[in-house]
Amino acid sequence: MAVVSARNAPKTAPRRVTILGSTGSVGCNTLDLICRNPDSFAVEALTANGQAERLAEQAKRVGARLAVVADEDRYRDLKAALSGSGIEAAAGPAAVIEAAARPTDWVMAAIVGVAGLTPTMAAVRRGAVVALANKETLVCAGALMTAEVARSRATLLPVDSEHNAIFQVLDSKRPEAVERIVLTASGGPFRTLSREAMANVTPEQAVAHPNWDMGAKISVDSATMMNKGLEIIEAQHLFAMPAERIDVLVHPQSVVHSMVTYVDGSVLAQMGQPDMRTPIAYTLAWPDRMAVPVKRLDLAAIGQLTFETPDLERFPALRLAREALQAGGSGPTALNAANEVAVRAFLDKRIGFLEIARVVEDTLRSLPAAPLLSLEQVWSVDREARGIASGLISRPR
Ligand SMILES: NC(=O)c1ccc[n+]([C@@H]2O[C@H](COP(=O)([O-])OP(=O)(O)OC[C@H]3O[C@@H](n4cnc5c(N)ncnc54)[C@H](OP(=O)(O)O)[C@@H]3O)[C@@H](O)[C@H]2O)c1
Repeated sequence: MAVVSARNAPKTAPRRVTILGSTGSVGCNTLDLICRNPDSFAVEALTANGQAERLAEQAKRVGARLAVVADEDRYRDLKAALSGSGIEAAAGPAAVIEAAARPTDWVMAAIVGVAGLTPTMAAVRRGAVVALANKETLVCAGALMTAEVARSRATLLPVDSEHNAIFQVLDSKRPEAVERIVLTASGGPFRTLSREAMANVTPEQAVAHPNWDMGAKISVDSATMMNKGLEIIEAQHLFAMPAERIDVLVHPQSVVHSMVTYVDGSVLAQMGQPDMRTPIAYTLAWPDRMAVPVKRLDLAAIGQLTFETPDLERFPALRLAREALQAGGSGPTALNAANEVAVRAFLDKRIGFLEIARVVEDTLRSLPAAPLLSLEQVWSVDREARGIASGLISRPR
């Protein structure tokens, strides 16, 4: 058997990568790993929405070829910040899609919300390895996206820590041996609060997640537990697992990132510190592993891991997500659109925290689920649900 040591190992070409949403929480963590391994990766394109200066700084730091802002009003600032660097600048939603469509080996889909759908689809269509953080795309158009993955022979790698954990412990070659998936949930910052107390929480309190440092939208989703509802839908598509076999378990320490129960009673879990660089690294190096400087897990220091059943009375968003999934078709698309509108309104202090789930529930009641056969239908349902949710928010109660 030939022995290849690190010294004489054949040098492989760096993996060409594009990061959609590079200025966000997941995007910055991805760039951190890339910067620590400059010989292993070559950056083709980085995209953002409006943070032109931050994007330009990132593009210069990693020597990207292209930087794109979705917001066309920020083009001049981006161009100015990149002047003399030789890095191409572009702006507008179509330019973000073009960035995703450029030939690269690997794409990080880390735009927040349904805004990421078309760019992510562009990467899937060309058969790329797509590291998927943008869960809203699978929630809105899961069946269409998984069909496109099968057609184009793209690879979808889950970045969400829970789904990445399942991906690591799921025996995909023996689906008949898998009984259930258990998604763990931290319970968010309001895990122990009464409904009365939740009525008065502020956006600042909602985004202060106890374990994870994340973008504002997902932090609010964690606080309402809609995030876990979206993740049930995401898991159903990623692992072809019916919702009845996907459980949610509240685990405040966020050490067990999720579990798979097998027919023989074995339960396999993936554990680690709550640091997104671990799941991101798993997708960056896939099918290998790479060294990541995260704090190591010290179970003796942690002492106790605890688990609770989620409280659907205090966290109705979890029930709403299951109902939308059961309704099928456009149900999850409408759920996501209404939630995006309601979370924005909460962050802007136009509605209270408890109103988020109410707006979603009332939108779903007004918009019965229908079959979804095309992306045009997805956008049409998205628009309609946004219109209904916005109307509910502006209407005096
Ligand atoms: N953060 C986490 O730890 C975490 C964990 C698991 C899953 N996820 C998922 O990963 C996704 C990203 O989350 P995040 O926390 O990284 O979000 P974030 O910090 O808010 O970053 C979002 C990124 O998307 C860009 N963006 C926003 N709106 C856009 C638009 N209309 N068009 C193009 N780009 C747009 C932002 O650009 P600007 O900076 O210019 O606004 C930013 O680069 C979400 O779907 C989330 O659910 C996140």
